[in-house]
Amino acid sequence: MDRIETGIDTTSLEYRENFTAMKEKVEDLKRELDRAINDRSPRARARLAEQNKLTVRQRLDLLLDKNTPFLEISPLAAKDMYDSKVYGAGIVTGIGVVEGREIIVHANDSMIKGGTIYPMGVKKGLRTQAIAMENRLPLIYLVDSGGAYLPLQSEIFPDADDGGRIFYNQAVISKMGIPQICGVLGLCTAGAAYIPAMSDEVVHVKGSGAIFLGGPPLVLAATGEEVTADELGGADVHCRLSGVSDYMAEDDAHCMEIIRQIVKTLPPGNKSLLPLREPAPPHYDPMEIYGIVPKSLSIPYDVREVIARIVDRSEFLEFKALYGQTLVCGWAYIHGYPVGILGNNGVLFSDSSLKATQFIQLCDRRGIPLIFLQNINGYIIGKEYERGGITKDGHKMVNAVSTCTVPKFTVMIGASFGAGNYGMCGRAYGPRFLWMWPNAQIGVMGGEQAANVMITVKNNQLIREGEEPLPDELVRQIKEPIIASAEREGNAYYSTSNLWDDGIIDPASTRDVLGLCISASVNAPIRSGPYGYGTFRM
Ligand code: COA
Repeated sequence: MDRIETGIDTTSLEYRENFTAMKEKVEDLKRELDRAINDRSPRARARLAEQNKLTVRQRLDLLLDKNTPFLEISPLAAKDMYDSKVYGAGIVTGIGVVEGREIIVHANDSMIKGGTIYPMGVKKGLRTQAIAMENRLPLIYLVDSGGAYLPLQSEIFPDADDGGRIFYNQAVISKMGIPQICGVLGLCTAGAAYIPAMSDEVVHVKGSGAIFLGGPPLVLAATGEEVTADELGGADVHCRLSGVSDYMAEDDAHCMEIIRQIVKTLPPGNKSLLPLREPAPPHYDPMEIYGIVPKSLSIPYDVREVIARIVDRSEFLEFKALYGQTLVCGWAYIHGYPVGILGNNGVLFSDSSLKATQFIQLCDRRGIPLIFLQNINGYIIGKEYERGGITKDGHKMVNAVSTCTVPKFTVMIGASFGAGNYGMCGRAYGPRFLWMWPNAQIGVMGGEQAANVMITVKNNQLIREGEEPLPDELVRQIKEPIIASAEREGNAYYSTSNLWDDGIIDPASTRDVLGLCISASVNAPIRSGPYGYGTFRM
């Protein structure tokens, strides 16, 4: 494999301006992440101390092996929703290492409204379970939750992908043979009581942990019986009398220690074998990505410059380099793992779509994971291209992306518009993980384009009815809100708040994030099913 030769001049004004703009975006991201971790009310902190409980982050520090990475999933979920304080949707989720074993953890943050579950909390819980199932990762639940956030109960309870699906999934995960271990670290009320009940093993903290279907206030209201939380569902009740819990812990730290010991008893994971190479950092500094990515999405840049700062030794074997040049495809290694990379260098034409289809099939046949670097405005449009069959060639690519069986990973490094989002493995196409850079934008189309389409439709309607087209002032009035809403809702923060992705990442850490994702993914067989495709329209 040859090293990619960079064409970047790191002393140019353009590079320096880009660098400053991206650095500011990354600093904003770090501020948001810091707020999500630390902004808790003094009252909530005092309540936690009174209850002799640790914070969710302190629990994780004790649970996870020292000096190992923690790949947090969607820490900015529910950002700007509810009262803008339900950080991470009230849950911390991520992939970490316990006793040398990769696991995924799902932990309530009881400093946010008693750890109650908001609609986005359900969505995040389901995403956590999906990651566990796809990648065969043992799941550790640290429960400390008052159950459903009652003012929003209708958005949490009744539908197929609402709260009930969490417990349904627990049964399915159990049947798949994926271990589920639960720590009971606070009150587990109502729905939250089913999480320990549906787990394989339960560690119950004396004094602060309790499990019950109805808490003391509900029992009093319904039956007139007066009972304390501990009498109703404390550690003694469930470890000695009911058998709901399996181990009694003295406190939070002891609970984490017992969970670690349980993980040690699990049979070793069966990692899929890939033809690994000795890992090595890229030849070019990943920080240079800041200066490479233009300030505006409308300015094109060569995706090879990004690939050169993600892959081992910056080495890349480019596939069909001279054909379908608006898509760069090729072979490389990331942290020693072999990967096939597809990165956009413009809109997708018939030739680039066909190239993608062939390349995806090759990776699939060889059992090589796929990486999609999305910076795409869509497939080419117009008379010439329709006649050339862009729709059927785009279809081939979408077909191949949908049903290839190797793990797929997507990073949105710029635009993610239209069917380009689909062909380049957007969320609906089942990437194991999907990350956004802070500059990324997502939508059916850009705001200006969407507004122009709406004006054209309106004018055609008026002309059909024998009227004059819209005057300029009205055009402006119609366009402005469409552009504003597309910009707001196409923003990376809006996406991550809605859990359309697994998080916004610092572009300079892309290689490390992908390395962790690939490492997690090989806990499952490399192929999710037999190699094979549906009908390709010719
Ligand atoms: N829905 C909405 N908000 C809830 C809630 C629920 N189910 N349970 C608690 N809260 C809110 C409280 O109103 C309080 O809000 P505030 O900070 O704005 O005042 C916050 O969560 C913390 O509650 P608090 O009771 O002060 O904290 P705690 O640590 O002593 O107890 C709980 C936390 C969750 C154990 C306790 O509040 C409780 O038992 N709640 C009722 C649980 C229940 O019956 N759920 C049924 C769901 S189906």
